[in-house]
Amino acid sequence: MTYALPGTAAPTPTDPLGYFGPIIAPRLAAAADDRPYELFTLNPQTPTIGAEISGIQLGGNLAEEVLAELRRALLEWKVLFFRDQDITRTEHRAFAARWGELEQHPFYKYTQPGQSDIDVATLAKDATAVGAENIWHNDVTWHRTPSFAAVLRAVEIPPVGGDTLWADMGAAYDLLPEDIKARIDHLDAEHDWLRSFGSGMPQDAIDLLRPQFPPVTHPVVRVIPETGRRVLFVNVAFTQRILGVSADESNELLRMLYRHAMRPELQVRLRWQPNTIAFWDNRTSQHYASSDYFPARRVMERISIVGDTPIGVD
Ligand SMILES: [Fe+2]
Repeated sequence: MTYALPGTAAPTPTDPLGYFGPIIAPRLAAAADDRPYELFTLNPQTPTIGAEISGIQLGGNLAEEVLAELRRALLEWKVLFFRDQDITRTEHRAFAARWGELEQHPFYKYTQPGQSDIDVATLAKDATAVGAENIWHNDVTWHRTPSFAAVLRAVEIPPVGGDTLWADMGAAYDLLPEDIKARIDHLDAEHDWLRSFGSGMPQDAIDLLRPQFPPVTHPVVRVIPETGRRVLFVNVAFTQRILGVSADESNELLRMLYRHAMRPELQVRLRWQPNTIAFWDNRTSQHYASSDYFPARRVMERISIVGDTPIGVD
């Protein structure tokens, strides 16, 4: 049974936001491995997304068995949190490198001259460089091969504020009405960076970057090879339009999908401490950095890991 909030329109298949009541999404893909974890302690932060891992130090030389359990936990919980990880940049890089090739954000090298191409990116926000990551997104979906994952460590945090939120795009897909799934399962969308990174960028920089980074096309519904799980793969920061439908239908679908995906039941919110690390699967989650701490200072160190070409349904 569904209910409409007083004074609102009844929920419709294209506007499920009018619904309130239990929102219960599966945490795992069908037939996924649901064994307990034996090599660390895992504390879920919500029913489907976000788990805090304790009992391991990321600065050490982690055994293959621990990495295998961490990989299973990442697939299951989409974002893992580790507290009290007072590790060096070298150790941070070494941990990230266990998951794949390290990635230099192609634009940060234009905005942070002097930084080594493959080093950990230091993201310092203060009264002169305000935080502006408060828009839901997967990282670099305007790339042909968007990042697989990122490892972000808090160095300096504001007295209060500066939380980061993640949203579960597997749950977002699973909770869609069946007729919406049928409409979007085989659609593609165009992703681009011009509207975000390009705003405020000098024209000569845009001219330099454009040939390297033209608009790209990704499936609206992405399939994760390891699990077979379908995830919603459009985001308000970089998705420009859905292809093969009218502009009106594209706008209608995208607005509905974004509103649906932003329900708090699909989210986890991390309150950072210095030396907290978040390790997220950039394929199955979106994130949002709350920019509520100006003019306080917030310094993070981030490294991301190269991903593969998103594949769609069938
Ligand atoms: Fe991001």
